[in-house]
Amino acid sequence: MSNQKGRILVTGGTGYIGSHTVVELQNAGYSVVIIDNLSNSNADVIDGIERITGIRPDFVEADCTDFDALKKLFADYPDIKGIINFAASKAVGESMTKPILYYRNNLNTLLNLLDLMGENDVKGIVFSSSCTVYGEPDVNPVTEKSPIKKATSPYGNTKQISEEIITDAIYAGAPYKSVILRYFNPVGAHPSAEIGELPNGVPQNLIPYVTQAAIGIRKELSVFGNDYNTRDGSCIRDYINVVDLAKAHVVAVERMLEDKSEEKIEIFNLGTGDGVSVLELLESFERATGVKVPRKIVGRRAGDIEKVWADPTYANEVLGWKAETPIDDTMRSAWAWQCRLRERGIM
Ligand code: UFG
Repeated sequence: MSNQKGRILVTGGTGYIGSHTVVELQNAGYSVVIIDNLSNSNADVIDGIERITGIRPDFVEADCTDFDALKKLFADYPDIKGIINFAASKAVGESMTKPILYYRNNLNTLLNLLDLMGENDVKGIVFSSSCTVYGEPDVNPVTEKSPIKKATSPYGNTKQISEEIITDAIYAGAPYKSVILRYFNPVGAHPSAEIGELPNGVPQNLIPYVTQAAIGIRKELSVFGNDYNTRDGSCIRDYINVVDLAKAHVVAVERMLEDKSEEKIEIFNLGTGDGVSVLELLESFERATGVKVPRKIVGRRAGDIEKVWADPTYANEVLGWKAETPIDDTMRSAWAWQCRLRERGIM
């Protein structure tokens, strides 16, 4: 039985952003069922969610590309009102060598969900997109109206194609709504240190590498380039706290379920509005934690964008949502999570 606010299906709900969003949905009074194939996460995450919220979300271990498994899930949970779709492969580099896997996972998941939503009276879907759709922007900060650039990786292309699929379905009269959220760079962990990011193998993203270098798992961080056209030569991004990001999903779901959205499809940038360089982020980490990050400057990483940050005004005004956590607090949370993993003997 779901409670008054109704049930949300969270695909990829044991993953990094998914798990933080499940916490915020439950805190807001929603019931949650997670579907995840655990390809890049662990079922222990559900214990962490339960320790934070006091509520254990339902969990179905299955792959969203498996239409029959999804169909059964909808039959077992006829009370699903909305979907948040996090289930996707997300490593840019891997997508260059395994493009078919990326197109299959990311697009078949979405197509299956859209097919089944129509049949099961689901009101809307929140889709995880990315600032990667803007490529290397001509002007910063980027608004939702900034030009979409040709994708530079199969991963990025799956995000662009997914946005187009949802848009086409809705313009063709599909009986549901959608909110597309373009994330900038999600970082940090829940302040309880019960859940956080758990990369497989050598981290590709900055913050997990920073915390692993700081704790001694990695010898040193490679800073990819100090000769960019930026204030200190390193790349600039918009680092958004993962709990702030998770909260935006709750607002987005509420908009769809309570018919507050003005259009059947809405797109929002989710960022802080502040561009922070790699070297500035390292300064913040060291200031916040008192822990040094061993590092060396190396050459540029192929495919990196020089600078991109969000204009989040539209989300601030229309959703009434704002990223609030100071970057130093976010860095402390990332470090607390790394220390917790060490205490548990995981890393
Ligand atoms: N960086 C380093 N050293 C590292 C890792 C990263 O210096 O070991 C730098 C990168 O060069 C970049 C910044 O840290 O300047 C951030 O890199 P990330 O890999 O953490 O993030 P990206 O901005 O490259 O990629 C992220 C997501 C992608 C998404 C993209 C959208 O990981 O999924 O944003 O632009 F597509």
